[in-house]
Amino acid sequence: MLEIIDMSKHYGDVHAVNNLNLTIQPGEIFTMLGANGAGKTTTLMVSLGFTEPTSGTVKICGIDVTKDPLEAKKHVAYVSENVMLYGNFTARQNLEFFTKLGGRKNVSDADYEAVMERVGLQRDAFQRRLKGFSKGMRQKLGIAIAIMKDAEVILLDEPTSGLDPKSGAEFLQLLSELRGENKAIWMTTHDIFRAKAIADRVGIMTEGNLVKIFTREELEQEDLERIYVDYVTREAEAAA
Ligand SMILES: Nc1ncnc2c1ncn2[C@@H]1O[C@H](COP(=O)(O)OP(=O)(O)O)[C@@H](O)[C@H]1O
Ligand SMILES: [Mg+2]
Repeated sequence: MLEIIDMSKHYGDVHAVNNLNLTIQPGEIFTMLGANGAGKTTTLMVSLGFTEPTSGTVKICGIDVTKDPLEAKKHVAYVSENVMLYGNFTARQNLEFFTKLGGRKNVSDADYEAVMERVGLQRDAFQRRLKGFSKGMRQKLGIAIAIMKDAEVILLDEPTSGLDPKSGAEFLQLLSELRGENKAIWMTTHDIFRAKAIADRVGIMTEGNLVKIFTREELEQEDLERIYVDYVTREAEAAA
């Protein structure tokens, strides 16, 4: 479970996140929409313990990320827009390196192969260097690394941006399987249609504020696209 409690993050005068309260339960996918600069990545950086909140608390599986960062990090996996992998390593080598870095021991060759298979990497790509990989293949490997960590909480920052429709759909299918395994999943995206297709709840952030949360039922009844565009337009007008 991910709990964000009264969390604010300010950079000088910039209020990147204001008093955010949000809990993501095991078996839930929460997607956060928001224009550039809304505070989505900052929320993730604080949740991962990469930067401290100005005030408030984030807990991963009940562990305070600021007070006990090393313990908290064991329970969270992170997939970014441009997953950082080693170009000169093969897919298999990257997977093994990051799996060991994540603290897992006693992983067999068969385990590595099974996870690469599961995320839909072609068999002939396992032993190829990352250099020539498409963005979709890199994202698949990124999620394979997250799966190997077997963390309860998975945070993804625009993981599907730049993916073609087929790769994007496959990626979301994987997330939905992980939800079935009781992971608590948070994803940011610019893509309203993907957000709506997969999420149990969708949030809208503008200028550091979580201004709206849609439940699954509301997503089916309300016009998410219109409401989102209204919020973003209002924000742009206020700034002008
Ligand atoms: N390290 C930083 N130093 C100063 N300002 C930052 C830093 N990181 C983010 N910001 C500012 O915080 C705000 C929110 O940014 P960010 O969380 O990256 O938004 P998003 O991911 O929603 O596009 C922006 O105004 C951004 O310029
Ligand atoms: Mg961002």
